[in-house]
This record gives sequence, C-alpha cells and structure tokens, in this order.
Amino acid sequence: MYVKQDIRELQLEPTTRCQARCVMCPRRPHGGLIHPDLVKQDVSLIDFQYWFDKDFLSQLDSFILCGNHGEPVLNKELESIIEYFKSTSDAEVKLFTNGSARSSRFWKKMAELDVYVVFALDGLRGTHEKYRINTDYDKVIENATTFIRNGGRAQWDMLAFEHNADQVNACRQKAQSLGFKHFELKHTERFHEDKYEVHDTKGNVVDYIRPSEPSKFITEIHMQQREFPKPDYIDCFSKWTNQLFVSANGFISPCCVLDPALWKTPNDPVLKEMIDDFNDKIYSYPNLNNNSLTNYLIGSILI
Ligand SMILES: C[S@@+](CC[C@H](N)C(=O)[O-])C[C@H]1O[C@@H](n2cnc3c(N)ncnc32)[C@H](O)[C@@H]1O
Ligand code: SF4
Repeated sequence: MYVKQDIRELQLEPTTRCQARCVMCPRRPHGGLIHPDLVKQDVSLIDFQYWFDKDFLSQLDSFILCGNHGEPVLNKELESIIEYFKSTSDAEVKLFTNGSARSSRFWKKMAELDVYVVFALDGLRGTHEKYRINTDYDKVIENATTFIRNGGRAQWDMLAFEHNADQVNACRQKAQSLGFKHFELKHTERFHEDKYEVHDTKGNVVDYIRPSEPSKFITEIHMQQREFPKPDYIDCFSKWTNQLFVSANGFISPCCVLDPALWKTPNDPVLKEMIDDFNDKIYSYPNLNNNSLTNYLIGSILI
C-alpha cells in the first residue's frame, strides 16, 4: 500500500513544453508531429503550494525535476518553486535538462541554489543534434560551463546509439576537463527493432537512428520477458526509492512509467498492453487538482 508518510522521493514534471524534438520522446513521436493528446501545461508556484503541504516536503530526501513530456527549465516559475522548496526542505534537488535554453543569469542562480543538474549531451557538436533535434551543442556547453564555474555540481548524461558510439571516450574526457562531477552512459530500451524512424515536423520519414550494441541486447531481453509469467509481487525502482511521480497536469502515480498522461501516448507495446489492462480496472485517474495528496494516499486509490 502507498502511504503518504512513507514517500521519500518526489519527481515533478514542471512543464509539458519543450523546444526540442528528441527522436524517441513521447512528446513528438519520432521527433515529428506533436502528440495529439498532449496538454500544454506549466506548474505554477501556486499549484505547487496547493498540491504539497510543508510537512510532506520536509519529509523528502530527494526532489527530482524531470517528467515525461517537457523541458523543466522552460517553466518560468522554476526558480521560485525551487526557492520555496529549499525554504521548507533539506532534500537534494536534481534537475534533468536538455541544457539548451535560458540565460547565464538562470544557470548562475541554479548553482547558487545548489541544484544538481544533469545535462543531456548525446555526442559532440553535429552528432549530439542527430537525436536531440532543435538543441544546440555549443549552447548546452556554454550553459553547463557557466553553471560549473559558479560552483554548480553537474552530470553529463549520454544516450548511446550506433551514430555516437565512436564519441563515448571523447565525451567522457570532455566532461572531465570541463569539471562535470559525473559522466553517465545510458543505453535506451526504446528500440523494438534494429532501426527507428526520424520524422520531420510534417510527419515525413527523413532518417533513421540505430541502437548501440547494449541497446540491442536490452531489447532482446525485454521481448523475452514478455513471455514470462507475471510475478505476484511488485519489486521495482519506485518501491526502492519510495517515489511519487506528479505530472504537470497534476496526475499522480508511483513512477514516471505509470504516469496517466503518458498512458495516452504509449509507444511501447508492453506498456500499451499493461495500460489497456489497467484502464479496465480504474474508475478515474488520481489528480491533485481534484483531490488532495492526503486523501489519495490513504491506500484507497493507489495500491
Ligand atoms: C522527457 S525527458 C525530460 C527532461 C529533459 N527535457 C531532458 O531531456 O533531459 C526525461 C528523460 O528522458 C531521457 N530520454 C530521452 N530520450 C530517451 C531515450 N530514448 N531513452 C531513455 N531516456 C531518454 C532524457 O534524457 C531525460 O533524462
Ligand atoms: S528535451 Fe526532453 S522533453 Fe524535450 S524532446 Fe527531448 S527528451 Fe523530450
């Protein structure tokens, strides 16, 4: 059972807006047309204060600013939300970003607020943009450098594909020379075959991306797992971290994968099957604009 007092990690999606067109992001399938079900929404400071009471915020160990459909730094009230959060809680604040927006003033402020920032950098100039369409490698490096020079703790996250495999060592070295605290290489699970279409903004296929070798392996394991009998217990990341996920529209769920806003946009066949099954059983999606966290987390809705 999910109990409010047990939650230690809050992941918030500050906005569903984004300037980028990353190829496998559910916001714009294949980087092309915007998903027809996407609701554009920002979380305001007032929403944040209404949704979460001070006791709840002060019990947290970790506050993650990320989400499924948007770029957190595009929320104009992000600084105020973080400042308010910091005035009520000692938890670590971790921000995931494409890093390609906002001024040097904003990045200095993030350093001052001691936010741990994870910059998405999927290769060097010219290669990074093949997946992170509409972002600018030089701008990300400039923003990360401003942040680090002002004392900020930064992480370089690199998604590995076939097209950037030969740049992993160069990126790792660059991360070190620029003063990033950590370099993380990630292999996506989102391929279901050996290639994935890239679309233009009209929905035409203009290119393909291909998986890294470990991504191919992960995909095979996933497909095999579909044949396994379903376990009769839950043991997952959300349970280990005691996480609550809150979308920009106010939906709550145990983790980002179960975000009801994502349920309208599943691009994974396993997730779609699970969602169809769950949709038959649930009578309404829990949303903090309709009822309070306290009322939801008495175990009657999220179990
Ligand atoms: C929807 S993004 C929101 C945060 C921010 N806009 C960003 O891109 O960092 C959430 C996370 O998904 C990651 N992501 C993007 N494409 C992915 C993929 N194909 N596989 C796994 N993670 C991916 C992003 O790097 C980010 O850490
Ligand atoms: S930057 Fe993040 S939210 Fe924006 S398209 Fe890429 S993965 Fe999606």
